[in-house]
Amino acid sequence: MQKLFLALSTLLVADVLAQFYFAGLGAFHLPADHEAFSLHAANSLVLQVLAVLTAIAAALARAGKGTIALAFLPALLKEVQYAIFALTELFVPEGVPRNAEGIPLIVDGAANYFIALHVLNGLTILAVSVVVFLRARRLAAHKDDAPVAVGP
Ligand code: HEM
Repeated sequence: MQKLFLALSTLLVADVLAQFYFAGLGAFHLPADHEAFSLHAANSLVLQVLAVLTAIAAALARAGKGTIALAFLPALLKEVQYAIFALTELFVPEGVPRNAEGIPLIVDGAANYFIALHVLNGLTILAVSVVVFLRARRLAAHKDDAPVAVGP
């Protein structure tokens, strides 16, 4: 079970890195459009499923409650990404022109500062995934010992 936990946590880190790359694909695509982020949007679901599977594997590997919770955290933080988009609306002044999908065509000032938290939350997801991977690696290295919790 320790090996499964390690394999899944490795996949999780790789998938988070892919998520950053897919953000880059969208950002540098011309013409700039929503469709260019389709891989980024689809992979966010893969990332969420991987985080849940990693948390289950952590439980089966008896990694400790703290590590299980930490492995699950990226699945919750992915929802925070959507929450950041939704809350940004609070900072968009009334009357701002919007496209056919209702997305504001002007995002500046407070709305711009707030929506950029998406990137910091993405970095948090990466950091949490790396910590989980390091704990899984430590647990796998001790697989022949008596079961040990690798975190609080
Ligand atoms: C682990 C990190 C990240 C996760 C889980 C994540 C997740 C998401 C999700 C769920 C959406 C909404 C997709 C949709 O249904 O339309 C989204 C959109 C977006 N993300 Fe991320 N994101 C991450 C990192 C980043 C980073 C690092 C950047 C930029 C540097 C970024 C830029 C964007 C942009 C610009 C959009 C809006 C794209 C559009 O639909 O026009 N994301 N992200």
